[in-house]
Amino acid sequence: MSHEEFPTEEPAVVTCGLPYANGDLHIGHLRTYVGGDVFSRALETIGQQTAFVSGSDMHGTPIAVQAIEDGVDPEEFALEWHEQYEETFPKFAVEFDNFGHTHDDTNRELTYEIVEALEAEGYVHEEEIKVAWDPTEKQPLPDRYVTGTCPYCGETARGDECDEGCGRHLEPGEIEDPVSTITGNPAEYRDRTHKFFEVSELADYLSGFLDRLEGTSNATNQPRQWIEDGLQDWCITRDLDWGFDYPGSDDLVLYVWVDAPIEYVASTKQYSERVGADTYDWEDVWKADSTPADDSEPASGGGEIVHIIGRDIIQHHTIFWPAMLRVAGYAEPRSVMASGFMTLNGKGFSTSRNRAVWAREYLEEGFHEDLLRYYLATNGGFQQDVDFSWSKFRERVNGELVGTVGNFAYRSLLFAYRNFEGTPETDVSEEVEERIAEAVEEYRAALNDYSIREAGQAAVDLAGFGNEYIQTNEPWNLTDDDPDRAAVVIRDCVQIAKALAVLFEPFTPGKAQDLWEQLGEDGSVHDATIDAVHESPPGAFDEPEELFEKIEEDRVAELNEKLQERVAEATDDESDAEEGDSPDLEPLAEERIGFEQFQDVDMRVGRIESAEVIEDSDDLLKLTVDIGIETRQVVAGLQGLHDVADLPGTRVVLLANMEKATIFGIESNGMVLAAGEDADLLTTHADAPVGTKIK
Ligand code: 2FM
Ligand code: ZN
Repeated sequence: MSHEEFPTEEPAVVTCGLPYANGDLHIGHLRTYVGGDVFSRALETIGQQTAFVSGSDMHGTPIAVQAIEDGVDPEEFALEWHEQYEETFPKFAVEFDNFGHTHDDTNRELTYEIVEALEAEGYVHEEEIKVAWDPTEKQPLPDRYVTGTCPYCGETARGDECDEGCGRHLEPGEIEDPVSTITGNPAEYRDRTHKFFEVSELADYLSGFLDRLEGTSNATNQPRQWIEDGLQDWCITRDLDWGFDYPGSDDLVLYVWVDAPIEYVASTKQYSERVGADTYDWEDVWKADSTPADDSEPASGGGEIVHIIGRDIIQHHTIFWPAMLRVAGYAEPRSVMASGFMTLNGKGFSTSRNRAVWAREYLEEGFHEDLLRYYLATNGGFQQDVDFSWSKFRERVNGELVGTVGNFAYRSLLFAYRNFEGTPETDVSEEVEERIAEAVEEYRAALNDYSIREAGQAAVDLAGFGNEYIQTNEPWNLTDDDPDRAAVVIRDCVQIAKALAVLFEPFTPGKAQDLWEQLGEDGSVHDATIDAVHESPPGAFDEPEELFEKIEEDRVAELNEKLQERVAEATDDESDAEEGDSPDLEPLAEERIGFEQFQDVDMRVGRIESAEVIEDSDDLLKLTVDIGIETRQVVAGLQGLHDVADLPGTRVVLLANMEKATIFGIESNGMVLAAGEDADLLTTHADAPVGTKIK
């Protein structure tokens, strides 16, 4: 890593992956946007000039397919969703400095400029390839118009992405056993001439780029393998009516993944034009001063470009996008942060089954946006898969926000108000000054480590310290005998509360502003920088109010019930529609086995002792399982299907004489038995002791 620590002298841009403008947002979508907003606010807090941009992704088959289904024009369809996103994000305090869309003129101009640069630099060639074709509809089947089997991992995949398996980008013609999504018929292949960007020529540059790239380890490590496996040139045109026409062609449009990331630049440019280049100059961030001939050298110039994305689009952001930037004379990204997936009560979100907590619905339930922001930003590391359940949500809100942060702020400020009418006129103790400085250091280090969760933890820990401090020093017992000491203790607590307002602003901006105002501060805590944590509040303040409210247990039950009813309703509709279909069960084995053969299978009752996520793997957990005679280490594909924290203590069935294997570099000594795609864990139902053989 060769970058200077944040904050640097250069301007930064934090971008969030562009949502396809094609449907309602649920809280799973919000995770990346809240993460981006928190990170960009926190960078500003520590003194980094930052623009936060994104926009709607308007082109490609994700829009065309839906628009056709709804019988509307794709532009009209996408613009409607774009407007909805513009309204929804601010309701969660996700405040982009600019939220544009890919179909606007700024993006069109920049896209043409960049594509023409790729052509002019000699990195584009034409090639005749096989593209999928629907023989009944007599039309080409680009991307989402076709499904089939991924040639890399064998899972079901969509035309241009292996969305249910290995996550790889698929080139036209790569998908196996293609089926048209329009007619359900097997697709044919036809010859067509398309344009290719010669990404393979940039392999050396990209290797060096990855050495410099910062961010989450999934984004910095995974692409190395793709380069080692050999890069293919990238098809950048499609046979589609919707999108930007390929320059000079009347029947090809640009592949959506060309103009989508260019919107990051376009959106920054629009922001720059609005505030003036003296305040923020998009070219300082995005344009390289010069591009060296040596592939191992980065271009000079440019600012701190940070991309925040879902982990399914790592390849686009670490291979295709930096390759385009390099050839077109732009600066390279400094970091890519790729979030893990989110599940709901241990299972995937499903729009078709209405199995989701919708963004709108969350707000309609009357919850403050900051509670969800806090949960999404701090529940698990950014790159880990995390689960949402109303009960976990309640636990985090009641435990940390109500019990630790809110409790400390309220009791301190109330005591200060009642006994000193505000901030006592005395100095903050050295101990507390140091503790606040320590929290700031932890916070800064966490941001430099791209760990939003740890930055939040630094703030929560400071609140925890505050609670202990007030509890140990008992100012209520000092007011009569030692009022000076009571004043110092409360002065300390007020300063901690002020530091909390500053440190929590990125996470819970609304509540941080409330605390700021309770302290008698003017203006917006959003504009305060980190130095404010050591500056005294103005003096007098009014009686404070509780910042957060507890969520009662029956509220969780009520919310779960609503969710279940909705899912049941949607599932009923679905099964009504599918009546007559036979269930998707594997056929029974034809060959019989003898009892002796069965006895060779040594299955034991086990108890999971510990479970941890295997870093960088998509679905693996490392478990230790007690099987009475010994404890086994097992690697199991349970990540995202079970809540890791809930696994210890679970009784399972372990296949103990399974051959040992090394999975993801970790020895696996046994296999935990589970049923179905959701990995329903097998267990026993009475008290068979751990270690008992299953016969
Ligand atoms: O995968 C997606 O949802 C895309 N719309 C993300 C685009 S991000 C970018 F590069 F623009
Ligand atoms: Zn795959």
